[in-house]
Amino acid sequence: MIKACIFDLDGVIVDTAVYHYQAWKRLANELGFDFTEHQNEQLKGVSRVRSLELILGWGNVTKTTAEQTELATRKNKWYVEMINRMQPSEILPGAKEFLQVARAAGLKTALGSASKNSATILERVGLLPLFNAIVDGNHVTASKPDPEVFLKGAEALGLNPVECVVFEDAIAGVQAAKAGGMKVVGIGSPDVLTAADLVIPGLHEMTLEKLQALNSVQKY
Ligand code: G6P
Ligand code: MG
Repeated sequence: MIKACIFDLDGVIVDTAVYHYQAWKRLANELGFDFTEHQNEQLKGVSRVRSLELILGWGNVTKTTAEQTELATRKNKWYVEMINRMQPSEILPGAKEFLQVARAAGLKTALGSASKNSATILERVGLLPLFNAIVDGNHVTASKPDPEVFLKGAEALGLNPVECVVFEDAIAGVQAAKAGGMKVVGIGSPDVLTAADLVIPGLHEMTLEKLQALNSVQKY
């Protein structure tokens, strides 16, 4: 029986991808190169450190570990400046409503995000009270597609992974949920999120009926 929903943050609850993109682009430009919006897709769901490695690779730039730390810190400073100005209007359509419906139905809710800035974002947009547990980049050592973040989410809720449904927009996130033995609802395109048990364009299309119907879906 499904007892909880675990949500990714970026691209599921809020669209912060645009801020990540602006900050990474600014950093790349300062280093003398650029990257495309298409390349940016590969950064979704990927940790800050790994994102920087990918970007430096695209620019054929080599940096020491200490330099990489400084660059990631610089990017994060710009990113935090932007998310500190976020408004509740930046919550993706249907996200708040589905959180409320789920909780009213007695389901538990958790966040399972790679971001180390999740608490700031949820607080800014006023969604913090709608989560029973927050597990994010500050609490895990392994990045998606490793299931650690979602397993810790289930644990924080006192539930078994099979009792939790994950909501994810990134391929790595869908893989992580599957590796953790959870059902997963993909947010985006079925052509991209092929391993998800169900794919919807956004949480505005989610209902409790669709959630409970996942119990009878068998997809591996
Ligand atoms: C999410 C985003 C990624 C981001 C990562 C780390 O997974 O989709 O684009 O790199 O979080 O975010 P942070 O806020 O810790 O830099
Ligand atoms: Mg995401």
